[in-house]
Amino acid sequence: MELPFAESYRIKMVEPIRRSTRAERERWIKEANYNLFNLKSEYVFVDLLTDSGTGAMSDRQWSAMMLGDESYAGASSFHKFRDAVREITGFEHVLPTHQGRAAENVLFSVLVKAGDIVPGNSHFDTTKGHIEFRKARAVDCTIDEAFDTTVIHPFKGNVDLDKLEKVLKENGPRVPFIIITITCNSSGGQPVSIGNMKAVRQLADKYGKKIVMDSARFAENAYFIKLREDGYQDKTIREIVLEMFSCADAITMSAKKDAIVNIGGFVAMREKELYFNSSVFEVIYEGFLTYGGLAGRDLNAIALGLYEGTEFDYLETRIKQVEYLGNMLLAHGIPIQQPIGGHAIFLDAKRFLPQVKKEEFVAQTLAVHLYIEAGVRGVEIGTLLADRDPVTRENRYPELELMRLAIPRRVYTNNHMELVAVALKNIWDRRNTIRSGFRIVREAPIMRHFTVELEKI
Ligand code: F0G
Repeated sequence: MELPFAESYRIKMVEPIRRSTRAERERWIKEANYNLFNLKSEYVFVDLLTDSGTGAMSDRQWSAMMLGDESYAGASSFHKFRDAVREITGFEHVLPTHQGRAAENVLFSVLVKAGDIVPGNSHFDTTKGHIEFRKARAVDCTIDEAFDTTVIHPFKGNVDLDKLEKVLKENGPRVPFIIITITCNSSGGQPVSIGNMKAVRQLADKYGKKIVMDSARFAENAYFIKLREDGYQDKTIREIVLEMFSCADAITMSAKKDAIVNIGGFVAMREKELYFNSSVFEVIYEGFLTYGGLAGRDLNAIALGLYEGTEFDYLETRIKQVEYLGNMLLAHGIPIQQPIGGHAIFLDAKRFLPQVKKEEFVAQTLAVHLYIEAGVRGVEIGTLLADRDPVTRENRYPELELMRLAIPRRVYTNNHMELVAVALKNIWDRRNTIRSGFRIVREAPIMRHFTVELEKI
């Protein structure tokens, strides 16, 4: 008999989580105004709100935390961190930051100005936010296949080269750089192929543009390249990572994802000039160049996390767990973004609850039902998140109305995944009884999803 697949780690420390009753959950979610961000975490049994900063550090990372050098300048922790970033990414110049959006803030303060246009593949919200905040515009050039959850494509995060060239042709001088997000979170944790990265590089060179990679989940992207792209099966994850980054001029990183730490990030780049210019903003926004908003112990943990996060066995364990959940849902006929992505399952809420009106927040409705069913917390990636149009103040209805279940790294077991799948199956079986969703009682002018208050219709 073939041996079954098993995790490439064992558990040394546990954190109890609390079960609750349906009646308790109904009360708690009502008290939270049907906003899952408003729930106390102890009211959640399986928390799939995000895979960001929620991973379990290893015994080696925790022991490295004890060795943190907390010197203000020139700490040994910084040198360990910088050596790791250099070795894994191939970039010479490195600035630590407190998280990914801070890396965006530092780099974009140098590169983005009012009136600019930044093309890319489904920019993440904070990336878009840091572009729009500077009165510039993010233009989505993701391939069309990404927006149909039923289309199977090995690299649904790819940039559409025709769309990109059109933007470069029409807006030449106003484009400071092209951004490639690996993996592409917004389209479902979908990877970008090396072939696509190289083609984008050619276009960037033709038009004299830089490439920035938003690399929060770069190791997961490399794993998919190894599995799916011709010629990469025999390469190591680290070789693939170096080849991917050889196509970029700079990267921003949220270490809370693929470096498996609870907080941290960095900017890394090739050019000394860009490094000097970014250093000014680093000091203003983050702190001195050798700590950048982090404690020495955090830098030590990131350094090790970069090595652990790029080990094939670890990545296989992680991504197979996401697939395990996704395959159970597919077996029940539940509509999800396919192929299954790296860090999360994205449920297609419009196909799950077609009878709920789009004005009533379909993905949020599904997320609330899942919480009440089993204490599982997902997150809406749909109309609430899309905010209102800044000019007309009308709701923006995105092409995809998704509920994301993001799987924290090394945290839950496959039994938890089974519980999530059964909870969703129960809702799927009674989906016709869910006729209506929610209306907004109070909302913030931007980023409303964090604080919005809802009531049942
Ligand atoms: N880029 C991508 C692709 C991300 O997914 C995130 C964060 C960031 C940048 C910003 O990094 O949170 O460290 O400031 N994504 C989290 C999520 C919040 O839940 O997907 P950060």
